[in-house]
Parts: sequence; structure tokens; C-alpha cells
Amino acid sequence: MTDSLHQLLRASRDAYAKNVVTPLSVRRNVIAATENWEEAHTLPLPAQMARYVSEGFETDDASVELGLKSLWPINANNQPRSAVVREGLKAVAENPAEAFYQVEVLNGRRYYTAVYADVAGDISCVLCHNGHPDSARDNFRGGDVLGGFVVRVALGEEG
Ligand code: HEC
Repeated sequence: MTDSLHQLLRASRDAYAKNVVTPLSVRRNVIAATENWEEAHTLPLPAQMARYVSEGFETDDASVELGLKSLWPINANNQPRSAVVREGLKAVAENPAEAFYQVEVLNGRRYYTAVYADVAGDISCVLCHNGHPDSARDNFRGGDVLGGFVVRVALGEEG
């Protein structure tokens, strides 16, 4: 289940990047994609779209959570908030080919937590993340892991 939810979040970000941002902002100069898109009347960045999808996915009982997180984020809200997610981000940064899975207990509730690497497949990822004033790191290279998709599914009460 976590694998499919991860695919869905990744696919929605990539579909937006491929079908909107690349044709309109990268290939043709119709409209830019920038972080302050609301004030600037531009398009949001793909990572922002992933965050909006994750926020929209939040259920009242928090039984499923999605996110795009990093140990070196641009947006400080994208830092891991649990030790297990931190450990997962470290694991996928070292070995991007393998997803990380672990059961974690938060506030007395058990969760199945999965983390999947998000690799800088394009030089534009590295250039923007290294150059961004809020970025926690400025020495990414092509092919590095910039962060990870996090999926958490509630398993039930502890005990
Ligand atoms: C034009 C600049 C820009 C480009 C290009 C870019 N990003 Fe980002 N990225 C951002 C910004 C800004 C955020 C913070 C979004 C938010 O507010 O949640 C972000 C967030 C992220 C995050 C979440 C952690 C964090 O840094 O806040 C990951 C992971 C990520 N981007 C990966 C990528 C990958 C992979 C690519 C290339 C396919 C890429 N980015 C291309 C600007 C960029």
C-alpha cells in the first residue's frame, strides 16, 4: 500500500512537471514557475504541487500521511519530524535503489512508515537547490538524493 501511495504522489508531481512546467516554462517562455507564484502570478514549483497534494490528502483521523521531506530542505517544514523518518532519509540517501520500511510508534499509535529516495535526475534540481537562499545545503551534485517521499499508514493503537 505504501508503495502505491508513493507512486501516486511521485506521479502527480512528475505529471505536473512534465505536462505543465516543462512545456510552458522550460521549453517555451509562456509563464515562469516560481516559489512565490501567488504574488508573482506565475506557476507553482513541482515540489510545492507535491506539498499541496500531500496536504489535500490528509485525513481527519491522520490514518494516512504523505510528504516530500529532506535532511537538507529548502522549506524548513519539510524536515523530518520523527526519528524513524530521519533514519529513513539517511538510509535512502546512502542507497537510493532501496526503499526504507519501519514500524514506528507516535503518541501511542503504531504506523507503518516508508521512505523512497528522490534523486536529482536533472541538473536543474541541483542548480536551484544549491543556489536557493533558504537551502540547508549547497553542494549537491547530479544524481544525489535531494530528499525522499514519505508515506505513513496507521496500523492501530499500541498495546
Ligand atoms: C526552481 C527551483 C527548483 C527546482 C528546479 C527544483 N526544486 Fe526542489 N524545491 C524547491 C523549493 C522552493 C522547495 C520547497 C517547496 C516547499 O515550499 O515545500 C523544494 C522542495 C524540494 C524537496 C523537499 C525538501 C525541501 O528541500 O524543502 C525535494 C525532495 C525536492 N525539492 C527535490 C527536487 C528534485 C528531485 C528536483 C528536480 C527534478 C527539484 N527539486 C527541482 C525548488 C526547486
